[in-house]
Amino acid sequence: MRVGVLTGGGDCPGLNAVIRAVVRKGIKHYGYEFVGFRDGWRGPLEGDVMTLDRAAVRGILPRGGTILGSSRTNLMKVENGVERVKDNLAGLGVDALIAIGGEDTLGVARQLHDHDVNVVGVPKTIDNDLNATDYTFGFDTAVNIAMEAIDRLHTTAESHHRALVVEVMGRHAGWIALHSGMAAGANVILIPERPFAIDDVIAYVESRFKTDYAPIVVVAEGAHPQDGDMELSAGELDAFGHVRLGGIGQRLAAEIEKRTGKESRSVVLGHVQRGGTPSAFDRVLATRLGVHAIDAVHDKDYGKMVALQGTDIVRVGLAAATEELKTVPVERYMEAEVFFG
Ligand code: F6P
Repeated sequence: MRVGVLTGGGDCPGLNAVIRAVVRKGIKHYGYEFVGFRDGWRGPLEGDVMTLDRAAVRGILPRGGTILGSSRTNLMKVENGVERVKDNLAGLGVDALIAIGGEDTLGVARQLHDHDVNVVGVPKTIDNDLNATDYTFGFDTAVNIAMEAIDRLHTTAESHHRALVVEVMGRHAGWIALHSGMAAGANVILIPERPFAIDDVIAYVESRFKTDYAPIVVVAEGAHPQDGDMELSAGELDAFGHVRLGGIGQRLAAEIEKRTGKESRSVVLGHVQRGGTPSAFDRVLATRLGVHAIDAVHDKDYGKMVALQGTDIVRVGLAAATEELKTVPVERYMEAEVFFG
């Protein structure tokens, strides 16, 4: 049996741990051969492969990124994409594919399975917004990086009596903002799921200043104000009428400064949250998912995604994982709100 492996979408600490586990177990227990496809779906689309054997995965467990490379190539938007992939898999003698990715990558995997490609999915995203799995690997690492940054920002903000706005990743879901903000004692957490009222944000910031401490606002990149709540010029808005991604932190800091008369600064953590070595939790989760993914291939249980539910790794339909995103429920946000201001 020859198994292809690919990693698609934004990279994420733990990808190499999955690849290593798949290859190590596949060779040792099942005697399989592997083919590494480069750069997500571009690999099978163009037949771009690399050797994936025992030597190729040596020493990669603690390494961030992915030895296979990644891209956001979407086969379904490429003319004859499915046929080209099927031809390349047949030409390379690849019997099954393990696709490690987020909503987009696994959505393509689901559609390929509908076209009779033998595929098993492994969920990945620092955003933790995939359904049917309790956690995705990469999330714990990203939260720890953001938490450490926020801890550090507390002391500089206090020394200068400033408000500090920290923008973290999360376009559609506020999991990183919620967890890092709770872990590091943010005074306000703003997430895409809950359009915010700027008056409330200002009130929290002012009440924090009154206690002689500096306010820290954690904002997810996709968070946005309630309609008409902040004066925003056309250039600041995207096609959906939301503040442009990568701009909300800066925009909020300016608004806080204008309304409170206190100096404010913003920090965009950006891709720092995705780089570097995975946490122990993510290494273990990624390794377990890899072990179970190759078992699913061995069982010919295709069209499935391996997932963490409670403490168990289970198999769920790819459709269950990709139909809608897992966003932050209101009760979870209310737990954090206790500490605002
Ligand atoms: O999905 C992971 C993620 O890091 C998001 O949090 C972020 O919005 C996006 O990827 C950034 O994408 P890119 O690396 O293409 O700028």
